[in-house]
Amino acid sequence: MSEPRHPDLPSGPAPWWREAVFYQIYPRSFADANGDGVGDLDGIRDKLGYLELLGVDALWLSPVMRSPMADHGYDVSDPRDIDPLFGDLAAMDALVSAAHERHMKVTMDLVPNHTSVEHAWFAEALAAPPGSAARDRYHFRDGIGDDGSEPPNNWPSVFGGPAWTRVTEPDGTPGQWYLHLFAPEQPDLNWENADVVADLEKTLRFWLDRGIDGFRIDVAHGMAKPEGLPDHDWGEQGLLTDTDADPRFDNPAVHGIHRGIRKVLDAYPDTMAVGEIWVRDNERFGEYIRPDELHLGFNFRLAEAAFSADEVREAIENSLTAVAQVGGTPTWTLSNHDVVREVTRYGDGETGRARARAMLLVELALPGAVFLYNGSELGLPGVDLPDDALQDPVWERSGHTERGRDASRVPIPWEGAQPPFGFSPPGTETWLPMPAEWSALTVEAQLEDMTSMLSLYRTALELRALRPEFAGDEIDWYGSPPGCFAFRRRGGGLICVLNTTDAATSLPPGEVLLSSAPLADGMLQANAAAWLI
Ligand code: GLC
Repeated sequence: MSEPRHPDLPSGPAPWWREAVFYQIYPRSFADANGDGVGDLDGIRDKLGYLELLGVDALWLSPVMRSPMADHGYDVSDPRDIDPLFGDLAAMDALVSAAHERHMKVTMDLVPNHTSVEHAWFAEALAAPPGSAARDRYHFRDGIGDDGSEPPNNWPSVFGGPAWTRVTEPDGTPGQWYLHLFAPEQPDLNWENADVVADLEKTLRFWLDRGIDGFRIDVAHGMAKPEGLPDHDWGEQGLLTDTDADPRFDNPAVHGIHRGIRKVLDAYPDTMAVGEIWVRDNERFGEYIRPDELHLGFNFRLAEAAFSADEVREAIENSLTAVAQVGGTPTWTLSNHDVVREVTRYGDGETGRARARAMLLVELALPGAVFLYNGSELGLPGVDLPDDALQDPVWERSGHTERGRDASRVPIPWEGAQPPFGFSPPGTETWLPMPAEWSALTVEAQLEDMTSMLSLYRTALELRALRPEFAGDEIDWYGSPPGCFAFRRRGGGLICVLNTTDAATSLPPGEVLLSSAPLADGMLQANAAAWLI
């Protein structure tokens, strides 16, 4: 373990999550044990041997709580139960203990910004009058205009359309509006309401008492809303929130909520939380991981950078700066269930795959925690799905102008020559169709092939775990030709070189530990990276 990252941090052994490799499982799409075409908890448990072989330290499960699945689990109707689609509490307990036996941690997604419309609280709120305690747990407001037929403010939903939906009052008349930053099936909770605060604490303890090692906090830059929910002049919006340019996110009161979460976790040794923080400003980002807030924050710069040495370097420097000011741990991720898969983002086909291999070595060479998304170790591309297969609410909400995120959520191909490739029993129709050409990308096809993406992942993860050269929290940059970069881990001395040009480039002196593509006459090929010691 390496030295403490910051003079103010207590010394002692580094916590497990500081250099951990997390593996994100999108449970619908990982492995289907009961043959209904949707992945489940027993399916995950069956594959723990594979995950151990891959060499990951911790699992992050996208939501498996009770949900009507309007946003595939990110609309929770009971945060303290498992949805029957995925199994039950006993299946979850069995998964956690089996993972622990293999020395893997298990972390779960928590969704504190909103509930499902099928949560008991929302039903209560609909049945109660305006101004009632039941409505105060959400953001109910009267509409604008004489008949209240205009939404209370001009905020858009992240998924398209207005962020407000009008309800019908119990007497049948058109009534108040409720706020939903995402789909109408995901009403935002009012975090100034004491019930809301108390309930999250209850949920945290419920899972921690069952042995969960930590949480990924969904929309961790959401929750707190600005006083009066003011109108806003909207320009172009991306996922990354620019501070002061979007009143829906990153309101200062959110930090009190994270301090509350941290207090609970501090009573459970070795547990942690990582926040989904789409905040562009580094200083504002850093605030989320101050010593009394979240342990880690997702930094999405690398997932947004094009395959260009300059852009990647800038993303790395940015991410390091964002955490350095608060003595925090950097995190690295190339993809998740919300973004385009990296192979496709980098150009698809052989080029996309070569670049994704290179970027894996870059990511794993950096100090901090890494988050891998299931299927990236197989080099899965995004899938061009037919319109009638699309399920992401974004497709409907955008009036069929945005295809949404299903392309990155197609089930994992495990073995065999045709769909469902061992994801489900033969003949099962999977919840999203699997491309026939994935027969070359199955785990079975890649496992023994030393040139496969899977083999590169396994080798790279093993080296990262075992070699002393990966120690140290700082990196130094070398001078490099245009389109290339090289950095060195200051502690252990590992050197990582990236070549984003079309031509081979020479390597600095040193012994090559691993390269993403074979060297050509001792040179690093185009679209490749190498580790040297
Ligand atoms: C987060 C999740 C995304 C979900 C949204 C609403 O951004 O990662 O999948 O749709 O929150 O809960």
